Amino acid sequence: MQVLKTIAELRTWVAAKQNEKQTIGFVPTMGALHEGHLTLAAAAKKENDVAIMSVFVNPTQFGPNEDFDAYPRDLARDVELASSVGVDAVFAPSVDDMYPHDGGIRLLAGRQATILCGASRPGHFDGVIQVVSKLFHLVQPTHAYFGQKDAQQVAIIQTMVRDFNFPVTLRIIPVVREEDGLAKSSRNIYLSEAERAEAPNIYAALQMARDIVVKTNDAAAAVQAARNHIESTTNGRIDYIEVLSYPDLAQVNEQTTDVLIAAAVYIGTTRLIDNILVSVG
Ligand code: PAJ
Repeated sequence: MQVLKTIAELRTWVAAKQNEKQTIGFVPTMGALHEGHLTLAAAAKKENDVAIMSVFVNPTQFGPNEDFDAYPRDLARDVELASSVGVDAVFAPSVDDMYPHDGGIRLLAGRQATILCGASRPGHFDGVIQVVSKLFHLVQPTHAYFGQKDAQQVAIIQTMVRDFNFPVTLRIIPVVREEDGLAKSSRNIYLSEAERAEAPNIYAALQMARDIVVKTNDAAAAVQAARNHIESTTNGRIDYIEVLSYPDLAQVNEQTTDVLIAAAVYIGTTRLIDNILVSVG
């Protein structure tokens, strides 16, 4: 396992792999690794000659009042975990190395970024595609691995890859959950014991909504049922619960084949997101 701390070191590593005609599987992360990340990494290792993971808490995707400073960071632990699933290299650059210049060119995520998490986190997805596009240019991966946990992020990165002709194939991995259904997240460690006990109700609510969508295709009824469940079983504050077509993230209609049921809920001060993707075609 190699730890590459600068862009220069990464370029040398990538050039060597390209010389050897190795396929490269790439897993972008912000660290604080859990089984969700490690499932992506294991798939990257299985499907490519070499696997590389980035660990970079990207400042440009955090809003001014979000948890950039508090975001958990433990590179030594992340390196050990990544190594345990066969990752060959971890790229962990500094903010200065990634963003040495202010006020340069920015990418703008389109309509898909105006709703769901984009509505309450303005500029978040612009920051995500900024860093992911830079990472794709640097790593030049054959395959890149993303989790369906962040369904909107996946949809927007698919659009970026399509619209900007990135020579990479995306691989999307289903949501990895705790035994009680809570989606694994680096932010779950912020939850108190009481909050942790309430949190699985987000997934339970999404499952209720899913059953209604499958049976009746009634998006409004599904949203209402999920809302009722969260309001009656948690002290959380709902940011959104929505039923949309996927991956275009538009209103569901007769032509819709894939439906995204997505929620963001503040449990205490921790904002948790989760979703279920269901085929109705
Ligand atoms: P991060 O939140 O660290 O997540 C890294 C990857 O792990 C993402 O693709 C995310 O969807 C996936 N992931 C997280 N929890 C998961 C779970 N429970 N099941 C399956 N996959 C899961 O997403 C980011 O970082 C950043 O926005 C990034 C893409 C790295 C750009 O900075």
